[in-house]
Amino acid sequence: MPGTPPPARRTVLRAVAIAPAAGLGITACSSGGDGGGTSTSAPTAPVDLGASDDVKVGASELYLDENVVVSRISDDQYKAFSTICTHRQCPINKLEGHKLICPCHGSQFDATNGKVLHDPAVAPLHELSVKVENGKIVAGPKA
Ligand code: FES
Repeated sequence: MPGTPPPARRTVLRAVAIAPAAGLGITACSSGGDGGGTSTSAPTAPVDLGASDDVKVGASELYLDENVVVSRISDDQYKAFSTICTHRQCPINKLEGHKLICPCHGSQFDATNGKVLHDPAVAPLHELSVKVENGKIVAGPKA
């Protein structure tokens, strides 16, 4: 027998060390702030919040996109406050009855007068001007 038998053919499974390009898709970091129409400031100009009858007498309504809470004290008397927390400026996103609850550190405020109900915030919410024009609630910075 001339020569030696060829070495057993080795099957080399060499993993391809190149990751599929599709798996490397890197999503650009979003700077945030443009999703969902939310902002992180109270209105700097008067904003239309919708029909005045949307807020029942004795009730409060939270307008998330505008960062405003409106309480209807009586048939024709409304109060409005910025819902930017006075602790570290988080937008408050929860209203239970008249109690506003900040998601960041748990401060709580009274939506009818802006007063702090629970720390760590110590300063009341900033009051806004509010009026009814043509059946719509319009709130904005105080003059
Ligand atoms: S920012 Fe609202 S409790 Fe801290």
